[in-house]
Amino acid sequence: MTAIVLYCRPGFEKECGAEIQEKASWNEVYGFLKLSKNEGLVQFHLHDESQAQRLMQKLPLTRLIFAREWFATLDDAVELPEYNRVEVISEALGERFHYQELRVETVDTNDGKALSKFCRKLSVPLRQYLRKSGVLAKKESGNYSDNAIVLHALFLSGQQVQLGYSFARNTSEHVMGIPRLKFPNASPSRSTLKLDEAFLHFIPKSDWDTRLTSGLNAVDLGSAPGGWTYQLVRRGMMVKAVDNGPMAESLMETGQVKHYEQDGFKFRPHRKNNYWLVCDMIENPTKVAKLMASWMIDGDCKEAMFNLKLPPSAGRYQLVMKNLQTIKDLLSDNNIRYEMYAKHLYYDREEVTVHLRVLENR
Ligand SMILES: C[S@@+](CC[C@H](N)C(=O)[O-])C[C@H]1O[C@@H](n2cnc3c(N)ncnc32)[C@H](O)[C@@H]1O
Repeated sequence: MTAIVLYCRPGFEKECGAEIQEKASWNEVYGFLKLSKNEGLVQFHLHDESQAQRLMQKLPLTRLIFAREWFATLDDAVELPEYNRVEVISEALGERFHYQELRVETVDTNDGKALSKFCRKLSVPLRQYLRKSGVLAKKESGNYSDNAIVLHALFLSGQQVQLGYSFARNTSEHVMGIPRLKFPNASPSRSTLKLDEAFLHFIPKSDWDTRLTSGLNAVDLGSAPGGWTYQLVRRGMMVKAVDNGPMAESLMETGQVKHYEQDGFKFRPHRKNNYWLVCDMIENPTKVAKLMASWMIDGDCKEAMFNLKLPPSAGRYQLVMKNLQTIKDLLSDNNIRYEMYAKHLYYDREEVTVHLRVLENR
């Protein structure tokens, strides 16, 4: 027996489980779930290791909405003694793989956070020991070959660790899929971190010079008080901010923002020179999905970043899939080539973030 362990936001284990089960079945991989309620941890048990490997190679992590990160287990969790923990972990690893990187992890709960000091302390000698014994690469370059493997050590407690691996080209670049972002004091709201993370997650850094750069025009629907506008302004963009609520004076003073006190569902720019559409309106997600598709169809933006609100009840995964399908259908009916990815990001709560980009509007 082997399992794929997936990390998600605590409270969203059901959604994460439903999604991996469905998307695995599209790849003819079948298994059963074990959810750790409110611990942000899902285990998808499979009959043999080759299935886990096949799935983790075929299904891009970027295609999973609710999973932040994943790894395949190496055997059962290892019981740790009071002393010689490093040696016990090394012995459990054996010589099955050569790893490029070690990720020491805990669950995303208060208990998990309480363990992080212990983990930080242990990770130094563990890393050294594994490097010395040749199990771990001497240096983490971040520039890995196609079949490079990442070692995961998930500490369930001070006495138990689950070891596993993921493929470097199909794993998160952040430990447990969580980027550590600093709140910028100049931003008028904490929501700013959501758009900051979204840009980091969806737009490759190598494209920032062309797709997130000064001189581009952007529209921000549901912009007040201006946390998202702040992210656009700080990248040098000119922003049309649409909201009946007030915008922060500091943003208006930059001269890069024009405030429209209008309904975001009715507003449209007069000229077709707008690159970004961002939307953080807390509104019916199906209405938002249709609005985003219509901007693309009408050629009123090239890329959009928006939230789809999640209902508090069951069926949240299915609802997101339904709204994404609505967008796909509308764009296909209008012969638009596009790419679309969705993720329940770390700074998202009761919403998922979607990135939509038009590739060709025929
Ligand atoms: C979560 S807040 C946006 C926060 C903003 N992104 C920030 O970072 O400061 C949602 C905003 O959407 C606005 N909103 C909701 N429905 C709207 C609509 N139909 N048209 C325009 N704004 C709307 C609300 O007035 C509210 O200011």
